[in-house]
Amino acid sequence: MPLVNTRSMLRQARDQRFCIGAFNIVDFLTIEAVVEAAEHRNAPAIIQTSSGTLKRFGVPKIVEMVRIVAENSKVPIALHLDHGTDLNILSEAIRSGFNSVMIDASSNPFEENIRLTRQVVEEAKQYDVSVEGEIGIVAGVEDEIVISQNAAIYTTPEEALLFEEKTGIDFLAAAIGTAHGFYKVEPRLNIQTLRDIHQKTTCPLVVHGGTGLDDETVKSLVEAGASKFNVSTRIKQVYIDAMNDYIQSHRQEYNILKVLAAAKKELVSMLEEYIVLLGGEGQGC
Ligand code: 13P
Repeated sequence: MPLVNTRSMLRQARDQRFCIGAFNIVDFLTIEAVVEAAEHRNAPAIIQTSSGTLKRFGVPKIVEMVRIVAENSKVPIALHLDHGTDLNILSEAIRSGFNSVMIDASSNPFEENIRLTRQVVEEAKQYDVSVEGEIGIVAGVEDEIVISQNAAIYTTPEEALLFEEKTGIDFLAAAIGTAHGFYKVEPRLNIQTLRDIHQKTTCPLVVHGGTGLDDETVKSLVEAGASKFNVSTRIKQVYIDAMNDYIQSHRQEYNILKVLAAAKKELVSMLEEYIVLLGGEGQGC
């Protein structure tokens, strides 16, 4: 199946009250793992790349790698740029085959965030690419952006509505107390705020900082109206630990294909757990 429009995928998730996993890939193996997990569970999935991964491969190679794997998949897969801050990179992704991009201008004053986001929406529209915007501040580390958990700023429903109306975004990342990376202190989530934003706005809502949230919390976020759930750090952790475990227990083997196969198996199993938890199982066609 060719890559699909992220907007329609997330609209369906919002209407039918389930949530789609958006998984940060780092290479070809992680792309394969996301598609394999989605196929096993007959679920739609979003493959997303950080700007760091994008710089490592370049936009054309990422698009090509994802197309090679997704075009043979039986389930809908979309390609998304996570936390785009560089307008040139955003523009290149929009023109080169990404299905959606996130413009993260949330560190700017509100009016400037609106202006920059609107600018990206205008360009994206011409290519039928959808756009995620962010208001409030999600704590943690994503590429070079470092925000302490204390400095995170919660989104209000009124701001969310204004932002949606003024920018024309397709989906919204709202700050509700989640953080990127491993939680340094217990997260102080405001799930009621997510519910209120969901009621006040019409666009699908995105939860960042998926790693480290327990199952009950994830289910509550989906019930409150999350339609896209981002997971990155957990993917890197499972990938590295699985390779390390295999190498430690096969010190004399020197078979890189077996190391990678062991890592992929663990990744697929972890990604399937997220898909099931998010309610995406069976929603693939
Ligand atoms: P984690 O690294 O906490 O899983 O967050 C992922 C994320 O929100 C990417 O934007």
